[in-house]
Amino acid sequence: MKLFVANWKMHKTHAEAQAYAAELGARIGNGIAGRELVLAPAFTALEEARDARGRWSLACQNVAAELAGPFTGEVSAAMAADAGCRYAIVGHSERRRYFGEDAAMLARKLACCRAAGLTPIYCLGETADERDAGLTEATLVRQAETLAKDPVDRPLVVAYEPIWAIGTGRAATPADAETARVQLAGVLSARRQLRILYGGSVTPENAAALLSGSAVDGFLIGGASLIAAGFEAIARA
Ligand code: PGA
Repeated sequence: MKLFVANWKMHKTHAEAQAYAAELGARIGNGIAGRELVLAPAFTALEEARDARGRWSLACQNVAAELAGPFTGEVSAAMAADAGCRYAIVGHSERRRYFGEDAAMLARKLACCRAAGLTPIYCLGETADERDAGLTEATLVRQAETLAKDPVDRPLVVAYEPIWAIGTGRAATPADAETARVQLAGVLSARRQLRILYGGSVTPENAAALLSGSAVDGFLIGGASLIAAGFEAIARA
């Protein structure tokens, strides 16, 4: 089953999330065969983004690196699970870059997800400089080491998101996505329930080529997922 995750980032009020959910529900009817859909709204819009009919599930975009306690402003993995999340995005490049999330912190976030029963969507990917220097594979291997203590028998989603492709309109080629997928599958070959997504400027226009030209298990989609019709078109690709 291919997996399509809509990462809304810091967008959408209650009313906007409600309207999106209503439109998506109307568009997909009983769901899209062979496709698993996930919406990742802000914490404040989880309730509005939920589908009572279960045609899509919910992810949070971040979780705290601690289980509970005096951490003002944080939301725990258990709270996210309690609010209806099945998945949690961990290690998105925007979190790494703007909020200083490093490997040690991300390993703690992964452990918190497991304690709460959330399946992590662990993001990794190289910068343009790393790519130009021929360091793509080394970067992926290093970032995958953060998963070393994560139990291999639990379901895991990994999203390959080259930083130069996120929000730039310049997606990786299907061949690039496939190269990274093969590298990650090799590094994570002990995992029993692994799905590898691609993310970075996925659109309704390039989705079919990326899916047919690589063996990725789906997409993590930012900008193009903000419109229900765009997300639907990508999921039907
Ligand atoms: P984008 O974002 O689709 O807007 O490039 C992807 C992501 O950051 O997950």
